[in-house]
Amino acid sequence: MRLRSLLFVPGDRPDRMEKALGLGADALILDLEDSVALARKTEARKAVASFLGSAVRRARLFVRINALDSGLLEDDLAAVLDARPDALMLPKAEGSGSVEALAALAPGVPILPIATETPSAIFQLGSYAAVRHRLVGLTWGAEDLPAAIGAVSARNPDGSYTNPYELVRSLTLFAGHAIGAAVIDTVYPDFRDLEGLQRHAERARRDGFTGMMAIHPTQVPIINASFTPTPDEVAKARAIVDAFADNPDSGVLQLDGRMIDAPHLRQAQRILNADAADRSGPATGTPKSRF
Ligand code: COA
Ligand code: MG
Repeated sequence: MRLRSLLFVPGDRPDRMEKALGLGADALILDLEDSVALARKTEARKAVASFLGSAVRRARLFVRINALDSGLLEDDLAAVLDARPDALMLPKAEGSGSVEALAALAPGVPILPIATETPSAIFQLGSYAAVRHRLVGLTWGAEDLPAAIGAVSARNPDGSYTNPYELVRSLTLFAGHAIGAAVIDTVYPDFRDLEGLQRHAERARRDGFTGMMAIHPTQVPIINASFTPTPDEVAKARAIVDAFADNPDSGVLQLDGRMIDAPHLRQAQRILNADAADRSGPATGTPKSRF
């Protein structure tokens, strides 16, 4: 099963965790970081550990821990590791060194770095190849980086990203694909604006992101649909694959009056693989075998 939608649930809201399991998200991100106030971290750790221990794993269960230098991470890990989260999301990651540091504290647990939350992190985006085997994928954020550099906003008045954040988004996209990892687009915070979300998610898929994070239940079906190939796309992809199978010695063919060659075949195979993965149903097995 792929990671199309990943729904955040604040770690101090166990009522919402149970609800979140039934929403069709491919993964839940149980948050111990920014959505939990300092005074409630202990309570959140307990709630997350207890949920991990008891939940029927209809979705993969990730935990967003606090950053390496937060002074909170050791207690986060002590609370949740025994309950076997499917992955740890690492905020404020700064390249392979951060992943290695976390892996030393949490051996064997897959890691999903948020790879663009500090200025230095941007210059480490090319370093993740060294720790590829530990990664679930890469994702990025558009909230912490502007705060870190004193930018007024990451967005133009019409909601689109300003140039610096478009750059960061694109760099994450290529950094992920450079190592053959899943690339997860960041959240769309305006959760009442479902049309805006749909445009955002469709643009993400168009550009090559493989999934997207959500913050609210209503966002999940829209994200899932946006990252699921339509029957029409699957039929076209099958026609391309079939055309090349019927003409094994041809590098270039025509289909319905349009030229197709190697990149079209690669793209078609990618769509068929995604379709096959979507049909294979909920994840089973050990975390290692799932990524
Ligand atoms: N997971 C599961 N259920 C959620 C949810 C979530 N992330 N967000 C909302 N819900 C549920 C509510 O419990 C409510 O359920 P009910 O109808 O059975 O009572 C329903 O969805 C409607 O909620 P709504 O009133 O629209 O939202 P809200 O104002 O209570 O909460 C947020 C809005 C943004 C605070 C909330 O969606 C949230 O906490 N999202 C996650 C934030 C987060 O983790 N951020 C960190 C990463 S950016
Ligand atoms: Mg943050």
